Amino acid sequence: MCRTPKSWAYFYLCSMERIIILDFGSQVTQVIGRRVRELNVYCEIHPFNKFPFENSAAESGAEASVKKIPSDVKGIIFSGSPFSVRDEKSPKICLSDYVGKVPVLGICYGAQLIAQNGGGMVEASQTREYGRAELTVAEEDEPIFKDVPKTSQVWMSHGDSITELPDGAELIASTPTVKNAAYKIPSKNIYAFQYHPEVFHTQYGGTMLRNFVKGICGCKGDWTTESFIEATVKDLKEKLGSDEVILGLSGGVDSSVAAVLLNKAIGSRLHCIFVDNGLLRKNEFEDVLEQYKDMGLNVVGVRAADRFLAALKGISDPEGKRKAIGKTFIDVFDSEAQKITNAKWLAQGTIYPDVIESSSVKGPSATIKSHHNVGGLPEKMNLKIVEPLRSLFKDEVRRTGRALGIKRELISRHPFPGPGLGIRVLGEVTEEKLRILKEADHIFISNLRTYMTELPPASNGFAAEEAETVVNGKKMRPLYDSIWQAGTILLPVRSVGVMGDERTYEYTIALRAVVSNDGMTADWVHIPYEFLAKVSNEIINKVKGVNRVCYDISSKPPATIEWE
Ligand code: XMP
Repeated sequence: MCRTPKSWAYFYLCSMERIIILDFGSQVTQVIGRRVRELNVYCEIHPFNKFPFENSAAESGAEASVKKIPSDVKGIIFSGSPFSVRDEKSPKICLSDYVGKVPVLGICYGAQLIAQNGGGMVEASQTREYGRAELTVAEEDEPIFKDVPKTSQVWMSHGDSITELPDGAELIASTPTVKNAAYKIPSKNIYAFQYHPEVFHTQYGGTMLRNFVKGICGCKGDWTTESFIEATVKDLKEKLGSDEVILGLSGGVDSSVAAVLLNKAIGSRLHCIFVDNGLLRKNEFEDVLEQYKDMGLNVVGVRAADRFLAALKGISDPEGKRKAIGKTFIDVFDSEAQKITNAKWLAQGTIYPDVIESSSVKGPSATIKSHHNVGGLPEKMNLKIVEPLRSLFKDEVRRTGRALGIKRELISRHPFPGPGLGIRVLGEVTEEKLRILKEADHIFISNLRTYMTELPPASNGFAAEEAETVVNGKKMRPLYDSIWQAGTILLPVRSVGVMGDERTYEYTIALRAVVSNDGMTADWVHIPYEFLAKVSNEIINKVKGVNRVCYDISSKPPATIEWE
């Protein structure tokens, strides 16, 4: 799905300047995007062969040779890639479509591509270079290295090296093992780095990107949360006119922020539906519904737990359960939505990583489970789609939510899977097992919220400092904010125990707590033993049906976050 200048995301472009990142398939292309956004500069990531030329329609026609870069594109960044430029199947572009028109920054593969195409030479390195290296800049007044010390640490990850610079290039920095670590071609306004400025380990990477984006491309950096809200609300008003819009709330961050943004634009013409599938956490339906009403949303709560339980009867296969839950959700949502006559739009909380994923060079990742629980909804309902957050990264969604006045507790909630506790009761789901799991989960999560720790905030511990206190000179925060996602799992086995004089034969609860950036990889959290002891005691003493508690110490990969 290519976002052309006339696309939805374009209208958010209140500053009328953007950087385009051409993705050649690197694992860290999204990180480049986030770094540019941190500079308050709007940017878009496009697959290497889908650049949003002004005359894209002519791409396949005779006029393909006169491709025009839209005037609001102030610069282009070529990403890295898992390919070698020497590989015949590697992603290639016609450089003359880009260079000399706007400033270009090539990173790793991007730098090699420019070198190879411009008369330079790229050869296999003796050994693959991976890790930290010390960069020394040639001229201290080089604009791309403004405020960067003469030597600093950078991060390398490449199997090829640029052994000869392209025509017209000047060497601007080296490391002890990589002579051509950075170069520029002044006549074409090209800069190229062999290392990755976007990753955390490159000490002054942010400064180098700032120098490119603001110094060389001349971006003003006026794309802020406030300007995004203002431009989006204005645009939603124009786009939706007096139409009625339906939105499914899940209790999660994305749908909640989308709802508040739409509510600001069209008020009660936004009809929110919040379904109780019986697979939410203890008291979650009532609590969250109350919060939504307090936020002024026009929301209907639909109690449908029985329908979901009936649909799950007899199914123990994880994907089978996901399908049953997804299908029931569509049926329940659709029959509720039918009551809203004249609705023309279905609003969704799609965010930018979903958009990139669906149009990525590599295609949707094969390593994740089928998450699109309600994928068939738009087709079934025959409504137009409105996605006000589709240009935002997750942290930007959180910041937008906060600026819209949504409570920190809601904005910093852990991710929770669409099929809910349905995939945390392993095997067949029954009412009794759900009761046990809800009680145990409630004890675990409530303790996470009250137990204070020095562990650093997780990447989604949004505004964790608001909940911090200083104890004996140490900054402490709720353990919940140091964890990316936590939950309990009810195992389908029973084991022997003793309680008083009685022998018991009951279920086991597993606790799971991980840190992650995006859910694609994760590591288990080193939770203090005293915390685990407290939670284990409380669960075994208070939850009837459980006599054993375990803590999951597997990382992803090779395990996954959820057990099903
Ligand atoms: P896994 O278990 O694949 O989970 O490591 C990665 C992230 O995705 C969530 N997840 C789901 N979310 N529907 C969802 O909406 C699903 O079917 C689903 N399965 C896993 C999981 O909670 C974690 O955040």
